Amino acid sequence: MSRIPQSFIDDLVARADIVEVIGSRVPLKKKGKEYTACCPVHHEKSPSFFVSPDKQFYHCFGCGAHGNVLGFLMAFERLDFVEAVETLAGQMGLTVPREGGEAPHAHPHASLLAVLEDCARFYQAELKRTPRAIDYLKRRGVSGETAAAFGLGYAPPGFDTLERALRLDRQGIDQLKRAGMLSEGQHGRLYDRFRERIMFPIRDRRGRVIAFGGRVLGDEKPKYLNSPETPLFHKGHELYGLYEARKALRRPERLLVVEGYMDVVMLAQHGLREAVATLGTAVTREQVDLMFRHTAQVVFCFDGDEAGRRAAWRALEATLPQLRDGLDARFLFLPEGEDPDSLVRAEGAEAFRTRIKHQALGFDAFLLEELARQAKDDGTPAARARLKTLALPLIQRMPTGVLKDLVLDKLAARVGVSVNRLLPEKGHSAPETPLPLVSSIESGRTTALRKAIVLLLHYPELAARRAPDPAWAQSPVPGLPLLALLIDQLRSRPSPMGVILEHFRASPHARTLEAISRLPPPRESEDIEIRERMWLDMLEHIAATHNRARLRQLTERPFAELQPLERQELLRLTTTQSNRE
Ligand code: UTP
Ligand code: MN
Repeated sequence: MSRIPQSFIDDLVARADIVEVIGSRVPLKKKGKEYTACCPVHHEKSPSFFVSPDKQFYHCFGCGAHGNVLGFLMAFERLDFVEAVETLAGQMGLTVPREGGEAPHAHPHASLLAVLEDCARFYQAELKRTPRAIDYLKRRGVSGETAAAFGLGYAPPGFDTLERALRLDRQGIDQLKRAGMLSEGQHGRLYDRFRERIMFPIRDRRGRVIAFGGRVLGDEKPKYLNSPETPLFHKGHELYGLYEARKALRRPERLLVVEGYMDVVMLAQHGLREAVATLGTAVTREQVDLMFRHTAQVVFCFDGDEAGRRAAWRALEATLPQLRDGLDARFLFLPEGEDPDSLVRAEGAEAFRTRIKHQALGFDAFLLEELARQAKDDGTPAARARLKTLALPLIQRMPTGVLKDLVLDKLAARVGVSVNRLLPEKGHSAPETPLPLVSSIESGRTTALRKAIVLLLHYPELAARRAPDPAWAQSPVPGLPLLALLIDQLRSRPSPMGVILEHFRASPHARTLEAISRLPPPRESEDIEIRERMWLDMLEHIAATHNRARLRQLTERPFAELQPLERQELLRLTTTQSNRE
């Protein structure tokens, strides 16, 4: 697979000017050494969004959004990483190089994509010349424009139609099979999977056909047939209609999740262009993640019956862990016997929008309502205790934030206790062993390592003051190997915070750095002399901590087992001063 070389990304971010990139999208005002605006990520009235040209970094004190220039493009334009790199490079007039010798943008399964594109074109042409299929769509109210926008087609009868129509040789047939368009019968005989069906092409985020769904014209079974899993198509990762919705709306305010192909198509035809469908399976986490890359609100639309409720619950479970502040999920239940297609045709788009507005349950309301049902909440203390037991583990899966606190408040109110009583006691049982760095940051524990990394990220020139001890790379002290790596990197290439974070984006330390980059540097560090002294003191202290930890580690093992180098190290450690504090 072709990759973008890390050196190109490092250079790109180092050369980009974050003020220019953000300023071309959001009006920035200069304020001292920084620039400020109302936060474009969480929408606010007074500006708490700051862009620092020195650090090549942005930060919102309101919602906590922060990052470098690529992170901004990803958050603001809802791009994935590669798209953000391409956008930034494009703005700077650069072409993105790829490793592995392939042409830019070459897809690892380019030949499968090509054959699927041919199939889609063939099916569309067949639809135009098959009155029976045209009549079917007309009867269902699908306009010619809608059919064209969704690329609808028709698969004619016959078992080797594609092979003949596309004039395929053996290799072509093999590709057709790998693309999921052929079924295999007895004795390995291959034949067209889709016959006499209305064809719905399933497109990826860039509009390339990766699979199909096909519906019979009558009452035959199965009603819908879908492409199998192929190298291109993993149904739990795709959403029907997402490409079309983005094409029509670019940055949709919400996405409406429905169950069927026809629901998406008919909602779009009536002007609800934000509809997408899962592909005959329960909503997956990957699909929720995909949606939240493109919108801040997801409205799940389900049947009002028992099966619909169950499906909604699974959608909620897939959604909770991803509900960061600023995002929203709602649940709309339709009257029994109706689906979005039948409803929007019967009552029109406005009435459907009104339903969404007035009848959709907030995720917290749905969560508590459904759990109260499961707990048979009749207001008795026992039932409330059951409710708490059911709800807490679910709510705990939400990311830390205001939204989570709000749900906890609601649960507390419902159970009839204060939030403090709801949560397990904190503080008394702080574990003795060092916490992993990230969780210690998230729990607000300060460690010397954390302080040192914060200082270094904000003042990268400090790296030049002292080389790291080579042994730190393997240190048992949490965070020290990372600090050593950072110092090394900065000594070989001094760069501002935004650039250094980019360099570590794909490393196992990315999450730790990300969490640390959010912390402000200590106030005293603004004075350059104090700062340098602080830094050297910190390193001194850290070196001593490392030595003690290492000494403990080596003395815990039988001396006879130690390697010669380890014995030397032990000897050195027992004779140095620093471990005798
Ligand atoms: P529905 O049975 O609710 O169909 O299936 P629908 O969308 O209302 O279809 P119409 O209106 O009769 O045309 C919902 C979705 O479940 C999947 C399809 O993705 C379908 O759109 N499904 C359904 C299948 O994969 N196979 C089937 O046999 C039926
Ligand atoms: Mn239907």
